[in-house]
Amino acid sequence: MKFFIDTANLDQIKEAQDLGVLDGVTTNPSLMAKEGITGKDNIFKHYNRICELVDGDVSAEVIATDFEGMIKEGEELAELHEQIVVKIPMIKEGVKALKYFSDRGIRTNCTLVFSAGQALLAAKAGATYVSPFIGRLDDISTDGLNLIAEIRLIYDNYEFDTQILAASVRHTMHVLECAKIGADVMTGPLSSIEGLLKHPLTDIGLEKFLADYKKGNQ
Ligand code: E4P
Repeated sequence: MKFFIDTANLDQIKEAQDLGVLDGVTTNPSLMAKEGITGKDNIFKHYNRICELVDGDVSAEVIATDFEGMIKEGEELAELHEQIVVKIPMIKEGVKALKYFSDRGIRTNCTLVFSAGQALLAAKAGATYVSPFIGRLDDISTDGLNLIAEIRLIYDNYEFDTQILAASVRHTMHVLECAKIGADVMTGPLSSIEGLLKHPLTDIGLEKFLADYKKGNQ
């Protein structure tokens, strides 16, 4: 399973990259705004900075919601850097845009997916990635992980190439469960990645090893 980090914060991206396990980055307009990045020029420059920090795919979301607008913006984003994947919302015009980009070899990430039907449509339209938001489903008492399992089954039934990018991951258990179900990618905050390495027995064990070494080597 690929690990993407879901942030526009350069320090956190660098920290995940330095850990050596990062495969890509996802962003969205809210995450950009959180970092105080506003205005098209600044936003585009920020995408380039992110691409310079990591080796993998970087999802950049269109703001337009009409077909022509999404095409124009998506083409501009795709030209920015070869690592850019154009993020398109799961709306009717978005499905048309996914097909348009897929026919032209431009990679896409279909975002704001909350049902298996939407995921099926995104795959039919040739999306490179589909992003089911599991945390936001959990927030409304609906099992987000169950959606990942449903999409996995459907994609495997028909050998769709679209990769399942489990999004809105909030914590380490989401990461582990996604890995068990067979999501192709997960995107979450730095804490969901770094949390995987923590175990009290590791800390206790290391402390004892070092103390015993010290005793024997005084
Ligand atoms: C996906 O690409 C989104 O950026 C993201 O995962 C949304 O997560 P949230 O529900 O924590 O905002």
